[in-house]
Amino acid sequence: MEDKIRVLIPEEDVNRKISEIAALISRDYAGKALHLICILKGGVFFTCELAKRLTVPVSLDFMSVSSYGSGTQSSGVVKIIKDLDEPLEGKDVLIVEDIIDSGRTLAYLMEILEKRGPKSIRLCTLLDKPERRVKKQVKVDYTCFGIPDEFVVGYGLDYDQKYRNLPYIGVVEQQ
Ligand code: IMP
Ligand code: MG
Repeated sequence: MEDKIRVLIPEEDVNRKISEIAALISRDYAGKALHLICILKGGVFFTCELAKRLTVPVSLDFMSVSSYGSGTQSSGVVKIIKDLDEPLEGKDVLIVEDIIDSGRTLAYLMEILEKRGPKSIRLCTLLDKPERRVKKQVKVDYTCFGIPDEFVVGYGLDYDQKYRNLPYIGVVEQQ
């Protein structure tokens, strides 16, 4: 049976907000080059849309970590599935995530990436669920949308690997 999905943030609103954040980031990094780290798989749609709108020179790398099992509950275990291809030394790095929930994934990632000697490192997320934060030390520099504590899909976010390709942010209604 197909799940029913309620639209939480329509496509136009997501795209408009990404343009605003891209303009802000482009201003903040004027005169510099930006090294984007896309956190797979969820961050891939947001990273592409953001990168297309940046006016500073951009390079890209990808990392895959697992923090969740196949359901909607955090396992609390973070594991590197795919590491970066390139070193971070001397680079202005921006980590691009789909969503910050408990903050466990990012707390762990920031700790290991900071040790690789980037010139600077900041964090950008499409969605943030501040109520769910366990790791309070995670500081988010750029957030498109703060959302309530609901499990969302679309724009890269999945439910059991489904719905990543939805062009809007939606909530799977429990039937
Ligand atoms: P955290 O470590 O708890 O902050 O979780 C971060 C990761 O959990 C995200 O990168 C997502 O892959 C996943 N996640 C958290 N909340 C949601 C959600 O509402 N929908 C889909 N994935 C989520
Ligand atoms: Mg993710």
